[in-house]
Amino acid sequence: MYIEAASNIAQIVDPIMNLINWISIISIVLIMGTAIYFAIRYRRRGPNDITSRTEGSLLFETIWTAVPTLLCVMFFLLGLSSFRQMREAPENSMEIRVSSAQWAWEFQYPESVGGGKVLKSYNTLYLEENQPTKLIMKSQDVIHSFFVPAFRVKEDIVANIFTYVWFTPLISEEQAATGRGEYNIFCAEYCGRNHSAMIGKAVVLKPAAFKKQMDELDAESGVVDAASGKKIFDSNCKSCHTLTGIKLVGPSFKGLWSATRTLEDGTTVTADENYIRDSLLNPGKQVVKGFVNLMPPQALSEEQILSIIEFLKTVK
Ligand code: CUA
Repeated sequence: MYIEAASNIAQIVDPIMNLINWISIISIVLIMGTAIYFAIRYRRRGPNDITSRTEGSLLFETIWTAVPTLLCVMFFLLGLSSFRQMREAPENSMEIRVSSAQWAWEFQYPESVGGGKVLKSYNTLYLEENQPTKLIMKSQDVIHSFFVPAFRVKEDIVANIFTYVWFTPLISEEQAATGRGEYNIFCAEYCGRNHSAMIGKAVVLKPAAFKKQMDELDAESGVVDAASGKKIFDSNCKSCHTLTGIKLVGPSFKGLWSATRTLEDGTTVTADENYIRDSLLNPGKQVVKGFVNLMPPQALSEEQILSIIEFLKTVK
């Protein structure tokens, strides 16, 4: 395989993938090689070169029916056994909840790792090396798909049912020296305009570093300041709102604080604390003129909302 392998699932999937690839490559070379050789060897050499009568061969026909059939049955059995392993999460799995929304990921860690609290991170999924992990996933809006190529897992995320994947995260050989592994999370289901920007990071940490990371999330969770607001902006808002005046799906945040906004219905409003809080929790309520509301309500704590307000004050 040409992509880093960073989970037990990769170790199950890769040998099968390689086997099927090699059998396919060898088959193509043999079949096409023989066809080209025969085309040259037995080509028509003149107007009187007439093909002699050829009888079928029971032996050859049996072989070329039986061998591919047995290969296909073998692929099926290998696929079935690996598929079963991929669907059966071990009892001791750490359960992390994943929520997807246009166009961001939210991860919720179990109370057991948050010291009794449910900690959250956005767009970055922290994982503990060698700890079987089950992701229980639900969408807040349209269908998304959770895809981490390095883990070899991909599963749709739907609004009305829970779906899951499980894997034991590992640090790939390529990143072993650094003691941590970073892998891309992609959304693999076209989910609207910023689908291609719905990218996250899966960070695999050693147990001690994972614990430290959870403590950091815990420490951050109650803090109100512009730096925390910037972090939330980077993970939740950046795909639709710029800080530079350029319009994306939503209006730019440049100079937003205390500015006067003209809304769809022609009324105006001052961008103060209440306006920003409303716009986060109920984005469809006051839509800026020239835009269509595509934003889902944000699941943010009051501290996070205050941090965003502090951050927006700094965006001049
Ligand atoms: Cu979410 Cu594509």
